[in-house]
Amino acid sequence: MGNNNPSLSRLSLISRHIGSQPHQLSANYAQSFSQIQNRRLSTSQSINMSSQPEHPALLIPGPIEFDDAVLQSMSHFSESHVGPGFVSTFGDTISMLRKLFQTTDSSAQPFVISGSGTLGWDLVAANLVEPGEDVLVLSTGYFGDGFADCFKTYGANVDQLTGPIGGRPQLSEIEKALKSKRYKLVTVTHVDTSTGVLSELEKLSETVKSVSPDTLLIVDGVCSVACEEIAFDAWKLDGVVTASQKAIGCPAGLSISMFSGKAIEAFKARKTPPGSYFASMKNWMPIMQNYEAKKPSYFATPSPQLIHALHTALTQILAKPIAERFAKHREISDKIKKAVSDLGLKQVAEKLEDQAHGMTAVYLPETVKATDLLPKLAKSGVIFAGGIHKAIAPKYVRFGHMGVSVTDPARNDIDKAIKALTAGLADCGYQKA
Ligand SMILES: Cc1ncc(COP(=O)(O)O)c(C=O)c1O
Repeated sequence: MGNNNPSLSRLSLISRHIGSQPHQLSANYAQSFSQIQNRRLSTSQSINMSSQPEHPALLIPGPIEFDDAVLQSMSHFSESHVGPGFVSTFGDTISMLRKLFQTTDSSAQPFVISGSGTLGWDLVAANLVEPGEDVLVLSTGYFGDGFADCFKTYGANVDQLTGPIGGRPQLSEIEKALKSKRYKLVTVTHVDTSTGVLSELEKLSETVKSVSPDTLLIVDGVCSVACEEIAFDAWKLDGVVTASQKAIGCPAGLSISMFSGKAIEAFKARKTPPGSYFASMKNWMPIMQNYEAKKPSYFATPSPQLIHALHTALTQILAKPIAERFAKHREISDKIKKAVSDLGLKQVAEKLEDQAHGMTAVYLPETVKATDLLPKLAKSGVIFAGGIHKAIAPKYVRFGHMGVSVTDPARNDIDKAIKALTAGLADCGYQKA
């Protein structure tokens, strides 16, 4: 969607996808596969201008709406996970992640493992910390607390600095904490999906590197990768963990991460084995390296269909300069935040510099209940999420604006959502004071 001839562009993506296989598809297979895709596109597009059945716009902070070509690349015929076609697709996918994270450092190691975003926490806690070591968790909501819990599960000593609701821990507090102890690593949630609070990474990294140069800086980028700028090398990050279903725009089911050479060295220097078998970097590292070198390899079966979807999503993202993507998310976020403020509503993230660009958490008027408003929005064809921060959960709703809903104006998702929110609040009896 989103260009002059959506069906042609979708078809060309699909055929590029098929064309990327190094082994020769039999002519018959290739022909019948594209015929199936063709038929599906032509019948459904006449109704919806999309191959997807008509459905409400999913504007929660993940999973997000998916592009047709991404979804269609999942209906790939079954192939061996160690066959040359899939090995090539997976290898290219891993290489594309280096571009998404803006790293050219060959010692940085990407991982793509079946699982959800939470598996990224386990990767960090099971591999980069040993029982009894100290970690500092910077928390701006529910997901920071969850990361801290994960470390405790693996026996780490966790100190947590929690910002006020709607804010984040300040650099001066972080500096003080870093001077008090030698932390093995510091974690920060780039965007906490429970509050829409954005954490600043560049200055945080400068602070960590100047006060405690050996400490690893790990970012939970589940709600930020592909919608907020992340310059892995330039900001000297040691790890970013994310998932497929948010701004990357691929169905849920993949844990996606990047670790620096320094993080890998810290893993290699462990005195004890990792505390997990499935999440062990020892088991996955050679697999990732082999796939990227286009060599078949096996530790645990990947999902070829999901990898095809990720390959298509990354191909689309990297088809344009990544800076344009971040700018577009900022532009649409500004528009949404202005609409929220014009309605006389406040955001959970108070300060402008603490506000995420891929989601907005909006406090409801005192007279409006989320349980009344959300069904009205759904009736208007828009799905928002309720609150999940335990201290304020019933008082706010969350509007996700990432991926195709932002980059493809032809979908009209954002304007539709602003209109639905305005009408829904009025329907609940709210009038701006
Ligand atoms: C910031 C953040 N971290 C971690 C997670 C956990 O990811 P998942 O639900 O995919 O396991 C989420 C999920 O929404 C999240 O938003």
